[in-house]
Amino acid sequence: MASKPMPDSLKRLQPYVERALKCWLPPENKGDDLVRAMHYSVLGGGKRLRPILTLLACQAVSGNVEPALPAGCAVEMIHAYSLIHDDLPCMDDDDLRRGRPTTHKVFGEAMAVLAGDALQTLAFAILTDPKNGYRNEQSLAMARELARAAGYRGMVGGQAKDIGKTAHDLDTLARLHREKTGAIFKAAVTLGAIAAGASDRERKALAGYAEAFGLAFQIMDDVLDVVGDPAKMGRYKGSDEAAGRATYPGMIGVEASRRRAQQSVEQGRDALMSLSQPAAELDELLTFVLTRDT
Ligand code: IPE
Ligand code: IPE
Ligand code: MG
Ligand code: MG
Ligand code: MG
Repeated sequence: MASKPMPDSLKRLQPYVERALKCWLPPENKGDDLVRAMHYSVLGGGKRLRPILTLLACQAVSGNVEPALPAGCAVEMIHAYSLIHDDLPCMDDDDLRRGRPTTHKVFGEAMAVLAGDALQTLAFAILTDPKNGYRNEQSLAMARELARAAGYRGMVGGQAKDIGKTAHDLDTLARLHREKTGAIFKAAVTLGAIAAGASDRERKALAGYAEAFGLAFQIMDDVLDVVGDPAKMGRYKGSDEAAGRATYPGMIGVEASRRRAQQSVEQGRDALMSLSQPAAELDELLTFVLTRDT
């Protein structure tokens, strides 16, 4: 069966993001495994949800996506790094991602670790590069936001809790999901808001949207790991249960998990209401979180 249709904003903006990501990566050189591993991991066909959220947040405030493009690419570099490390044998030990062997399967574990490291620092090189067009105070605010989101109180902190299997109740699991996954989504929209020169009120509304988006997204990621079609997802399913990881479906079942994700999506919609202008494309992505099969 064919995959569900993508929202228009994803179809329109994916190629735009793709070209920019390629420009920010170092030029590929056949003999250089590190750079080849970076290209392999970044340009391997992701949905580009995070950079597209950066663009759409900027558009919602300023009417224009362009200023957010370097910031969106920086966020996607962090995301690509997080996936390489997430798949390593010492973490989730996954062999397949986006329908292809994971980075360590192709380049070896050491090169995969290093490609992740290099992508992480590349994100901050992008945010502080004079050709990104940001004023110094914007670069600084973006770098601070992304560093915090990716760090010990954000993505890496959440990953540590996931690996440590410390979540035994729903509240703790929701916190873990907010850190592991939500923090980077929140940074994605916040960087878009900073690129647009958003007011505090606009930033708050967008952050509320992203937090709700991130929680719903990870709940549905856990649901897809149980009921998804591996051919469409480009990865195997059942790995969460096999590894004994705490997940929403594991704690409350698939249907209640869908309802919890739906509830979070409604919270995201409410948050958008406090923007002074409608943000239809951000709204549409919330629906996609619930219906996606990839
Ligand atoms: C996968 O994210 C990792 C999680 C946070 C669950 P995506 O589903 O956005 O991955 P790609 O980039 O589209 O492959
Ligand atoms: C990963 O969560 C979140 C990251 C911070 C990379 P998962 O481990 O559930 O992501 P998938 O299912 O491997 O994409
Ligand atoms: Mg994981
Ligand atoms: Mg994983
Ligand atoms: Mg998962």
